[in-house]
Amino acid sequence: MDDRQSSPGITQEPEGRPGFQQWLPYQSTQPCCEPVPHIQAEHLTIAYHGHPALEKVSFNVNRGCITALVGPSGCGKTSFLMCVNRLTDLIPACQVSGQLHIHDTNVLAPTTNVLHLRRTVGMIFQKPTVFPFTIRKNLELPLREHGTHDRTLLASAIEAALQQVGLWNEVKDRLDRPAQALSGGQQQRLCLARALVLSPDVLLLDEPCSALDPISSGIVEDLIVSFRGRYTVLIVTHNLPQARRIADHVVFFWSFNGVGRLVEYGSAQHIFESPREELTAAYISGLRG
Ligand SMILES: Nc1ncnc2c1ncn2[C@@H]1O[C@H](COP(=O)(O)OP(=O)(O)O)[C@@H](O)[C@H]1O
Ligand SMILES: [Mg+2]
Repeated sequence: MDDRQSSPGITQEPEGRPGFQQWLPYQSTQPCCEPVPHIQAEHLTIAYHGHPALEKVSFNVNRGCITALVGPSGCGKTSFLMCVNRLTDLIPACQVSGQLHIHDTNVLAPTTNVLHLRRTVGMIFQKPTVFPFTIRKNLELPLREHGTHDRTLLASAIEAALQQVGLWNEVKDRLDRPAQALSGGQQQRLCLARALVLSPDVLLLDEPCSALDPISSGIVEDLIVSFRGRYTVLIVTHNLPQARRIADHVVFFWSFNGVGRLVEYGSAQHIFESPREELTAAYISGLRG
């Protein structure tokens, strides 16, 4: 059964609408991302201690697009992100069922190479998580862990990653100073650089701007926009104006009696201007959530 029908308040796809696996047409003024599914979740359920935190969610994230995952606290957004690079494996009480594919990789298969998966799927958290080492070592560590030891290669990969996040000119003369001496916004950009240095395909961003001051938040937001077309970005944000500014597509989760479910997903224009569900309309207008 289509999980949208089984969710309280969720109506069936109206006749004549595109199928469940397709996005609605979106006339974006942004450079176009590819209408090709990159991440595909099907009936994905995540439970802790046997209690589902997120139940039977199905949706696609398109390649090269920015997809915003929104919804109130506790509806399973972080759990979903953690499942995409199998960080949920690290939580003994967590069970995941259903299907999750990134291109042709079956993410949940026991045979999947998790080290390789985490190289191609970078994750950034709300609070910058720099390691208590130098700036250089923060970027060298993941490269060394994934087999790069040549000094010239390390140096050029580090410079390229710092350039991509606009940090190179700010830190090139203090690469051997502690990363924790950087400002919060610079630390968050260093975390982004640490993910980018491994040349990922997918970036999972869990409220990456919410702990930053408005100027740093704007810099990080502009960076995320600059990633469109190069990386597939799935960003959790509580900041709906931000989602509206940057997202190509929006996925909306809600918690029904403590169980997270997908209420609606579609182009940002569709979700913000003509949502199908009353709950979506109430959430984006600030009446609920
Ligand atoms: N490690 C954990 N152990 C037990 N329950 C958890 C754990 N992480 C999250 N949960 C529960 O799963 C639900 C969804 O949490 P989360 O994915 O963090 O939601 P969100 O990011 O939308 O706020 C919440 O009820 C939360 O308490
Ligand atoms: Mg969260």
